[in-house]
Amino acid sequence: MAKVKIGIIGAGGIANNHAHYYRQITDVELVAVADIVEERAVSFAQRWGIPPEGVFTDYIKMLDSVELDAVSVCTPHAVHAKPTIEALKRGVHALVEKPMASSGAEALEMLRAAKASGKILMVGFQTRWSPELGAARKIVASGALGRIYYAEATLGGRRRGIPGSPTFVKRELAGGGVLLDLGCYAIDNLMFVLGHPRPLTISATVEAAIGKQREAVVEGGWPWNPEEFEVEDFVAAFIRFEGGLTMVLKESWAMHADALGSSFILGTKGGLRLSPLEVYRDEWGYMTNTTLKLPQVDIYRERIRSFVEAVKRGGPSPIDPREIVVEMFIIDAIYESARKGREVEVKLPSEVLG
Ligand SMILES: NC(=O)c1ccc[n+]([C@@H]2O[C@H](COP(=O)([O-])OP(=O)(O)OC[C@H]3O[C@@H](n4cnc5c(N)ncnc54)[C@H](O)[C@@H]3O)[C@@H](O)[C@H]2O)c1
Repeated sequence: MAKVKIGIIGAGGIANNHAHYYRQITDVELVAVADIVEERAVSFAQRWGIPPEGVFTDYIKMLDSVELDAVSVCTPHAVHAKPTIEALKRGVHALVEKPMASSGAEALEMLRAAKASGKILMVGFQTRWSPELGAARKIVASGALGRIYYAEATLGGRRRGIPGSPTFVKRELAGGGVLLDLGCYAIDNLMFVLGHPRPLTISATVEAAIGKQREAVVEGGWPWNPEEFEVEDFVAAFIRFEGGLTMVLKESWAMHADALGSSFILGTKGGLRLSPLEVYRDEWGYMTNTTLKLPQVDIYRERIRSFVEAVKRGGPSPIDPREIVVEMFIIDAIYESARKGREVEVKLPSEVLG
């Protein structure tokens, strides 16, 4: 195959990370970029060696006029679905940033577009290449922890860490707040480790507890504009899965506490905690704690490398997009439960069942 030709849609913060790793692969060429803010597209192109004829303010024009093998979609959450679908429709593989979209319905449309085109749809959860998560998944699958009956999912929460950019806090761009930004990782991490159990019902709450407060102190975080804050900064959810497993999800961008703890899993024969990975068991008549020494991996490099390899092979996606559609329906049900103030069912589409 000739060089893999890549286009970037959305030339903000994370797009630079994509470009950095694409540039490290010799048979990849960055050929185009599109951003609605022209100066961003132009300076991004200059920084990453994209020729002037590859600079666009409209991604449709980019897709229609440049020959591309794949795109990275690095726009705000509520602008993930459309560019991804438009790329797939034109036979272009798509790597889309997390969260997959701002709703389950959008995620499903993306999945359908991928199926119709036969092209790769990969949601860029770099954490899937974390040695710690990989080891935890293996340990759970081995049965060494017995029947898993309970899990907690969190990245630990931030005492003060509301993103300053409208990309994350204006509803029309972000679609939601900390649940979509960080909660999507907490959910994907544990769904991956637990082997993607099927969610049944959810009871949840979301709060805009601190984000709208003009007097809130900002120390050790980024300044944000309370007038622009339109989403939640806290979420807590209780999720029931098939087979009796239950999970608590909690995440925060801002709170009056130091931390929310870390993710852990309880089984009848053992348990484990993530970050750092520690396994708890009864062995040889003792209660043992095992800390695993795992190799260091640049997970951002691995996600781009794996995507490019998949493009060269013609698929499949290194991350099955159906798994992430399920997670988007979990997120939808969390918002629905919070809105209704009661438990709701997770209604999964037939495309992700079985
Ligand atoms: N994987 C990670 O570690 C990671 C880290 C940061 C952000 N992200 C994700 O990446 C996405 C972007 O985040 P960011 O921090 O780079 O945001 P950002 O605000 O820095 O960049 C977004 C860019 O998209 C552009 N844009 C908006 N609408 C557009 C459109 N219709 N067409 C073309 N360009 C458009 C904006 O002008 C902006 O330049 C978010 O979904 C975020 O959750 C992932």
